[in-house]
Amino acid sequence: MTEMIIKTENLHKTYATGKVTTAALRGVSLEIPRGSFSCIIGPSGHGKSTLMHLIGGLDRPTVGRVLVDGTDISLLSSSRLAELRAGKIGFVFQFFNLLQNLTAEENVETAMMFSGIPEKAQPVRARELLSLVGLAEKFRAKPSELSGGQQQRVAIARALANDPEILLMDEPTGNLDSAAEGEVLEILFQLHRQGKTVVIVTHNNEIARQAGGVIEIRDGRVVAA
Ligand SMILES: Nc1ncnc2c1ncn2[C@@H]1O[C@H](COP(=O)(O)OP(=O)(O)O)[C@@H](O)[C@H]1O
Ligand SMILES: [Mg+2]
Repeated sequence: MTEMIIKTENLHKTYATGKVTTAALRGVSLEIPRGSFSCIIGPSGHGKSTLMHLIGGLDRPTVGRVLVDGTDISLLSSSRLAELRAGKIGFVFQFFNLLQNLTAEENVETAMMFSGIPEKAQPVRARELLSLVGLAEKFRAKPSELSGGQQQRVAIARALANDPEILLMDEPTGNLDSAAEGEVLEILFQLHRQGKTVVIVTHNNEIARQAGGVIEIRDGRVVAA
């Protein structure tokens, strides 16, 4: 067990779109302790989402390495990487990313496909998770029948489907009013107290104040740790 559950070494990411290249990350080295509640802050367009995608293995760096629990994920094949991601990492995004034609319960179940949870047990587990985020009454609701805060709580339940050790959240409260934001934050703090490592990109100063570590990103670099 490594003390640092996530490590990045000299991460660079350059996007090429036609003739335009964008250096989104320019040498990011950081460490995130196991069980911490870490916050990533910085202006829009400065590389925060890119960093989250690389940490979570959703995209690969142009240069540099990402170590998750001591494993250099750049050395993994796509299928091994998908396996590691499914087992260890839960993602929550700003725009919920729920499947609109599925119920809350079915949305959570979609994340159990590679989990090894027997198919018969999946609805029970999905309902447990939805209860955990305060949606016991909404198993059968479609996303369009839920508020923004409720949809984000479904997304959190989905991220928890495989009981991942790491939760990566990219502006999870960016589209919520302050009441819904408070509810979502309470769930995140609770998950942290239960031992999850939480990494959250946010513009909310209150979260940053309560976080164990704050990493500031500017122009694709870490400016304060
Ligand atoms: N898939 C992509 N293709 C091309 N450019 C991208 C892509 N994703 C992000 N960028 C660019 O990289 C920079 C950093 O973006 P991003 O990581 O999304 O920043 P943030 O999350 O801090 O707002 C921006 O200039 C953005 O336009
Ligand atoms: Mg972003």
